[in-house]
Amino acid sequence: MSFDEIIDRRGTISSKWDRIEALYGIPPAEGIAMWTADSDYPTAPCVIEAVHKAADFGIFGYTFYEESYLGAIQWWMQARHGWRIEQDWILTCQGLGNAIQLCLQAFSAPGERVAYFTPVYHEFRVKTEKAGRVPLELPMVRDGDSYVLDLDDAAARITPDTRILIFCAPQNPSGRIWTREEMAAVAAFAERHDLILVSDEVHCDLLFPGQRHVPMDIAAPEMRHRTVTLNSTSKTFNLAGMKTGNMIVPDPDLRGALADLLRKLDYMAACLALPMVKAAYSPEGAAWVDAQMEYLEGNRRIFDEAINRIPGVWSMPLQATYLPWVDFSGTGMTPEEVAQRIHGKARIAVPMGAQFGTGGETFVRFNIATPRAVVAEAVARMQDAFSDLQ
Ligand SMILES: Cc1ncc(COP(=O)(O)O)c(C=O)c1O
Repeated sequence: MSFDEIIDRRGTISSKWDRIEALYGIPPAEGIAMWTADSDYPTAPCVIEAVHKAADFGIFGYTFYEESYLGAIQWWMQARHGWRIEQDWILTCQGLGNAIQLCLQAFSAPGERVAYFTPVYHEFRVKTEKAGRVPLELPMVRDGDSYVLDLDDAAARITPDTRILIFCAPQNPSGRIWTREEMAAVAAFAERHDLILVSDEVHCDLLFPGQRHVPMDIAAPEMRHRTVTLNSTSKTFNLAGMKTGNMIVPDPDLRGALADLLRKLDYMAACLALPMVKAAYSPEGAAWVDAQMEYLEGNRRIFDEAINRIPGVWSMPLQATYLPWVDFSGTGMTPEEVAQRIHGKARIAVPMGAQFGTGGETFVRFNIATPRAVVAEAVARMQDAFSDLQ
């Protein structure tokens, strides 16, 4: 099995491929789906083997979080991120979208504010609004090829009824990896404003060669009393549809509040998810992730080279994740015209930057976790759709 193999996902109840007509008006037969953050290649062979074995066993009864499952998560955090966690810090939930909602429910009340730096994963806003809480944007600042945080500006925006700061590390979109000092500064900011810090680290395994992610708990161990770290196999291993993830919570009071909510909601992981996560968080899984990142490095190179050749268009250099963040401001076009050319002419389904909040207005987010030939086809279509600018 190779990352190069093109697998037709149309007609497989794939949200990414089977909804592009409904969401973007793009006929599936002609479209390229590069919107939602899942990958177009199969997960690691060790994960597929584990689910085959569980399926062949044929009994799908009740399960529990036993030692070897928790141990695999513990092993992964230590081996990949140098982070020593205790098994009883781990709370399994239904993916990290669910984890964000659980944190909102546990640590804030309706009408209170939830802050996050923008541009960011649009679901921070959506989940906050769905919960009846009020989003509070803290705009990041463009600094050369990347973003930086302006904590003075952020401090001026925080209100007395702000309860939670959701921090995306590494950042989706932009692929920015925060340094240990930046992570520590964010934790100190949360302390100064008495905020619960939800560190969403779902993209932390998808690091381009030479990059390193520092978990919030390592950057700011003294802030454990206010920190919840979110982690999952969903992006790393393309298991988003298995709907499983973990909240890692050293503080017993914070953990108790989340555990109580999980109990009240009667949540327990699906029995097939557990062997899959266990198989993923293994040395074989780690080797597969390394191979995936090498492949994505090649995709990133051809994507950036071709996109940056279009006058006025610029792809922010990714440090992590497979989600290029592309600025069209240099074309002088309105977002509507950019959308018309990408969706209407190039037939590529991608989200426009405005949905990621303030600072995203002139951007478009792509997804290059797909065979290289698909990336090559997409960039050729982009060059064609903007050929009048050449
Ligand atoms: C930053 C971030 N958090 C959470 C999620 C959702 O994760 P899950 O599929 O585990 O619910 C995503 C998905 O794109 C994401 O990018």
